[in-house]
Amino acid sequence: MESTAQPPKLRIALLGFGIVGSRVGQMLIDEADLLAKYIGREIEFIGIAERDESKDHQGVPDHLFVTDAAKLIIEGEPDVVVELIGGLGAADELIKLAIAQGASVVTANKALLAARGQEFFGLAQAAGVDLYFEAAVAGAIPIIRALSESLVAYGIYSITGIVNGTTNFILDKMSSDGATYADALVKAQELGFAELDPTADIEGIDAANKTALLASLAFGTWVGVSDVFREGISALVPGDFRAAAANGCVIKLLAKADLHDDGSVSVRVHPAMVPIGHPLASVSGANNSIAVSTHGAGELMFYGLGAGGTPTASAVIGDVVTVGRNRVGGVVGMSVAMSKTSQVLPMSANESQYFLRFDVADVPGILSQVGAVLASHHVSVRNLSQASNMAEEPSRAAELGVLTHVTNEGDLLACVAELDAAAFVRSEVRVMRVEG
Ligand code: HSE
Repeated sequence: MESTAQPPKLRIALLGFGIVGSRVGQMLIDEADLLAKYIGREIEFIGIAERDESKDHQGVPDHLFVTDAAKLIIEGEPDVVVELIGGLGAADELIKLAIAQGASVVTANKALLAARGQEFFGLAQAAGVDLYFEAAVAGAIPIIRALSESLVAYGIYSITGIVNGTTNFILDKMSSDGATYADALVKAQELGFAELDPTADIEGIDAANKTALLASLAFGTWVGVSDVFREGISALVPGDFRAAAANGCVIKLLAKADLHDDGSVSVRVHPAMVPIGHPLASVSGANNSIAVSTHGAGELMFYGLGAGGTPTASAVIGDVVTVGRNRVGGVVGMSVAMSKTSQVLPMSANESQYFLRFDVADVPGILSQVGAVLASHHVSVRNLSQASNMAEEPSRAAELGVLTHVTNEGDLLACVAELDAAAFVRSEVRVMRVEG
């Protein structure tokens, strides 16, 4: 006789009801039938752990809310735990608990994974459960799936992207609208895509976390956040934007990862002058974009909404469907490199074009002295510009702009140190990397 017993429902627990968590909670309720269709099993939303009892439940039934996340994981016996608390605090133990209880985990927690991913991916693998994190990088853009599955055939050797919407929005406002840094930041926070603590965005920490994860997947070697060279946007001054525009560039916070021929990698986040014709130059507002260079599949460009509640929830729900399906099928999916097999090169080994900007005395013979310093450090000039500062007459200062050919960063910084100390240089030497 045929059994009429229904298969057990897929039990889903949500941790955190913030900007992304609230969207995910609503979707799990409103689109339960659609999700069941994609997963191949009905879902049961067993609860939401949110410590802040004053939070608006935004139409999600009150009975789903609990304050004790560990109890929800232990007593609720979820198949899938969606962790959207974020950060390095409570989320750490809760993800470990979920894995120990045999649940698959979906998270957007780039900070935790970039810092301690080796441990978490190892635990998930040993427990035979999934740990998915599409929402951790570039919001709605399916870049994790692309790097870990779609593009594995011929090898990825380079990634260049804009992976932080807040800083992109701020840089955009500062260069196109002439907004002050403070006004642009407030606007980004009002729009809901800046992190609660803007330091992580502004200082490039958020982008470095994301870049570490992208590099780990792309190159199949563990790259943690401590391996990522990082410079944020807080030290930029209006003159940098003016000089960039005068040289046909915009300033972007770039995430870059390269796999070199000898197997070493370099991974970095820093502001850079990007020529206006470059595809990344036109990435505006809170959008993200990631260019991926592969050996056999050419250059690919991903573009879209990189931050915000609904776009990020879109990536979370996509992961819930995938890990749900894996669970129903009794398999586990994507794996992430857990051991470091590649040497991570220091920034002094970086090769790039650079733009130097500094004031000099506007008198005969200065250019030859500048040229001598550059030459002594093997820095070759591609373009030299000078703007006389008439306002400073009779002190006769002029601003020099030096665009270099591709140069080693160690050489370049030694050159800058010598220029900074030279009597004929009358200001700090501003240095900006230039994207080719
Ligand atoms: N605060 C991030 C950004 C979104 O501005 O891109 C979450 O990673």
